[in-house]
Amino acid sequence: MAVIFINDREFQTEEEVTLLELARQKGIEIPALCHHQALSPYGACRLCTVEVCKEDKSRLVTSCTYPVREEGISVYTDSPRVKQLRRVIVKLLLARCPQVKLIQDLAEEMGLEGSPFPLHDQEECILCGLCVRVCSEVIGKNAVSFSYRGAGRKVSTPFNEPSEECVGCTACAFVCPTGAIKVEDSDETRYMEFWNTKIPLRRCKECGITYTPENTPEYILGKLELPKNLLDLCEKCRRKAVAESLSNYDVTSRSVIIKK
Ligand code: FES
Repeated sequence: MAVIFINDREFQTEEEVTLLELARQKGIEIPALCHHQALSPYGACRLCTVEVCKEDKSRLVTSCTYPVREEGISVYTDSPRVKQLRRVIVKLLLARCPQVKLIQDLAEEMGLEGSPFPLHDQEECILCGLCVRVCSEVIGKNAVSFSYRGAGRKVSTPFNEPSEECVGCTACAFVCPTGAIKVEDSDETRYMEFWNTKIPLRRCKECGITYTPENTPEYILGKLELPKNLLDLCEKCRRKAVAESLSNYDVTSRSVIIKK
């Protein structure tokens, strides 16, 4: 069991957690942009930085990557050093993505106005890497990754070419904190502009509407054991098919009886 202090309050934990997770469990808010509970910690945005003190030494660490192991540490989530660092981080983010609402709100909370740096055109990606991690860790694909270095660093498909790996699941858009990854479905295709990728959509075998990217059902079948015929249907027709098949059973009695 680890006993630590956060903002002078004592906490104990037996779980393997990070400082960020423990603080959130205890209702202590720490801002974080590149953390997602379903994904491995990455430490990209550094906004979750806190000050860790032990004896007469203190250091700044990213709370999302710092495991709660050491006994007797004192953690400060809002100390003057922490606040100062967060202001610098948000200023830099504001310089990169001045039009992103999330960053504007953070800047406003900190009393920051405008950006002291030249503004980039329409940049919405803060390089948090959530899209890269969700694609690889959850979906099991590696359709996108970081490329280039320094100021030119970006997230993209290999060589910015349309991706053959992308299954169009939109998990990347779902976890993106700034809404940089947009998904546009037309009658025939799903367009992932950020990845320069167009994916044909599949038509429902029953009603004929387009409902999912062409290769998604096969991808799901490779991961889960599901009846293939249901994956060939849109959500509405699938519900109908399931309801019809259930109507063959008497589910009102305690045991399920197949109707004759
Ligand atoms: S949330 Fe910890 S570094 Fe981004």
